[in-house]
Amino acid sequence: MPESFTKSFTQQEALPPEAIQAANRILGGARLHRYGGSTEDPGAAMELERAFAKWQGARFCLACASGGQAIQISLLANLVERGDPVLTNGFTLAPVPGAIRAVGACPVLVEITDDLVIDCKHLLAKAKSSGAKVLLLSHMRGHLADMTRVVELCSDLGILLIEDCAHTMGATFRGIKSGNFGSAACFSTQTYKHINSGEGGLFTTNNPDAMARAVILSGSYMNYDMHGTLPDAAHFESSKYDCPNLSSRMDNLRAAILLPQLLGLDDAVAAWNQRYQIVASALSKLGPTVAIPDSLPGADRVGSSVQFRIPDFSSHDCASLQDRLRERGIKLAWFGKGEPTGFTSSHRHWRYLDSQLLPNTDRILSTLFDLRLPLSFSKDDCTLLGRILVDEISRIAQIGN
Ligand SMILES: Cc1ncc(COP(=O)(O)O)c(C=O)c1O
Repeated sequence: MPESFTKSFTQQEALPPEAIQAANRILGGARLHRYGGSTEDPGAAMELERAFAKWQGARFCLACASGGQAIQISLLANLVERGDPVLTNGFTLAPVPGAIRAVGACPVLVEITDDLVIDCKHLLAKAKSSGAKVLLLSHMRGHLADMTRVVELCSDLGILLIEDCAHTMGATFRGIKSGNFGSAACFSTQTYKHINSGEGGLFTTNNPDAMARAVILSGSYMNYDMHGTLPDAAHFESSKYDCPNLSSRMDNLRAAILLPQLLGLDDAVAAWNQRYQIVASALSKLGPTVAIPDSLPGADRVGSSVQFRIPDFSSHDCASLQDRLRERGIKLAWFGKGEPTGFTSSHRHWRYLDSQLLPNTDRILSTLFDLRLPLSFSKDDCTLLGRILVDEISRIAQIGN
């Protein structure tokens, strides 16, 4: 009887007791609205904004209703207008091109390298051909590009860099936290990210004018003094008349749940990296059959998910691997699938964009697999997971192991 995996890939670890107590306090007090604080207790959203700005090392933080909303706000707060081209990597998830499109701008997709990061040569070419002045760089699945090169390129080309850190909260490049390389950064606190409030997002910046616009956009009405990190009042003089209200600031309940998780984030990062190492080293036993993307020198990622390619597999082999693993309890996502499925889609499925030729990205995605590693998995669970993956890949690749 072959071994099976019985844990759920969508079950995150339990929230810390402090988060549950804080949530109960808010529920008991019924001050749930994003501006529901009182003079004595200004509210958890404010507190979270201060704590996250400090943790991230940014001047300002705005807590938002979702990571996708944080991205939309970051684009609008940086004066992206309808019809503007916005560069982004061709390998990301649907909320990224979706946010660009939602503000009326036009995603310009850039190829990736075999290490799953943006291809700087193609970035240069696409920046020149499109005339784009903004790069929304998605650190997709935690893979950090050579940020020194990206920052240099953006500065040479006069491009404003916004980082999508939905998968890199806590990751660093040369010791600098992801999110601190550009003009703004966006994080997600959706259940499957590094801290969990169901839905939620965080926007950070050091630019006082962009922050003032972001606060008004997030739906502050004229309550902008009820935010945790604020520029001087003078920065609101024009934004309070010019920016529409998108009603998308985070409410106090979600912020209260996140605060204790932020305190435990560094430990969670270490736990994820241990789990990643177990699964990655099992896969590495298969030698060149399986390509595990290398972290670039200087990049320290958070191993909350694992990606690998099996370059010699046909589509039929890839589909068989998914089926066989499903029978053994493992839900493996595959970026080469013809149809968008579950959370996984690729640029070919985003028909609201002009279709764009990305042959290298397509080659890479055609055999790219993806697995979440929630912290509800023990290290032993990850050992079992690695064993089953190796077993099924070996069968299809006909490797004796
Ligand atoms: C790469 C990436 N960026 C941004 C987001 C947006 O986050 P949210 O789900 O909080 O809107 C997601 C969510 O899955 C994501 O995967």
